[in-house]
Amino acid sequence: MAGHLSPIDTAKFVAAKRACDFVEDGMRVGLGTGSTAAWLVRCLGELVNRDGLRITGVPTSARTAELARQVGLKVVSLDEARWLDVTIDGADEFDPELNLIKGGGGALLQEKIVATASDRMIVIADRSKQVDTLGAFPLPAEVVPFGWQTTKALIEETLSSMDVLGESVSLRLNGDRPYVTDEGNHILDLHLRRIGNARQLALILNQIPGVVENGLFIDICDVVVIGHGDGRVEVRDINAGTREEDRIAFVDDDNLFSDLGD
Ligand code: 5RP
Repeated sequence: MAGHLSPIDTAKFVAAKRACDFVEDGMRVGLGTGSTAAWLVRCLGELVNRDGLRITGVPTSARTAELARQVGLKVVSLDEARWLDVTIDGADEFDPELNLIKGGGGALLQEKIVATASDRMIVIADRSKQVDTLGAFPLPAEVVPFGWQTTKALIEETLSSMDVLGESVSLRLNGDRPYVTDEGNHILDLHLRRIGNARQLALILNQIPGVVENGLFIDICDVVVIGHGDGRVEVRDINAGTREEDRIAFVDDDNLFSDLGD
């Protein structure tokens, strides 16, 4: 392996590359958002341009759509595709049951809709995303701008009776202004430190009127591909109960590695 990629980028790249094995000719593929998913989009672009793979991509954010078009993928909306064969996306945390926290990149709403509309969801991640219990990463909740401070207060009140270690909630900012999602909403980050019952929390948060969706993905992910900085990958399939190890050999000096960035 040539030495241009950092260990963390190597880990993300090999996870993305291995996840491409789940993509077959003619498939409709949900394209995740974030730095790991960006590797996936690049790898798929290579398969399309080099090997003639025919796939249709449904992006989960405007920035993923832009990258997908740049690398030559055919892009359609979820309404055009209706149902997908597979979605491949990153995650901020995954636990042993493959429940997830997502939304660190602010795209959780489209990501959850697209993943749920797929026969299979595959998460690609480096090992730092693996946790025993969800919650160290702040849990994002997408909220409508109207009355967001009231929604925040209602979330804080709700958290006081939940099995979590922290209860503070912050508005995500972009510079000195509230962050705005692709759907025109805001993000509240819930600093919970440890989530005792993620399933219950996911259901209860969505009952608060101003909450559009939360970043807990429960029973949605089927497979996680964990990349390592030395080129190893682990593939865990929660339904089959299998765990495989592999190694991805590559030379990081071709086009795929130029112009890096999410
Ligand atoms: C975006 C997400 C991302 O998948 C998550 O934040 C992981 O991103 P990265 O691969 O850059 O670590 O949920 O909303």
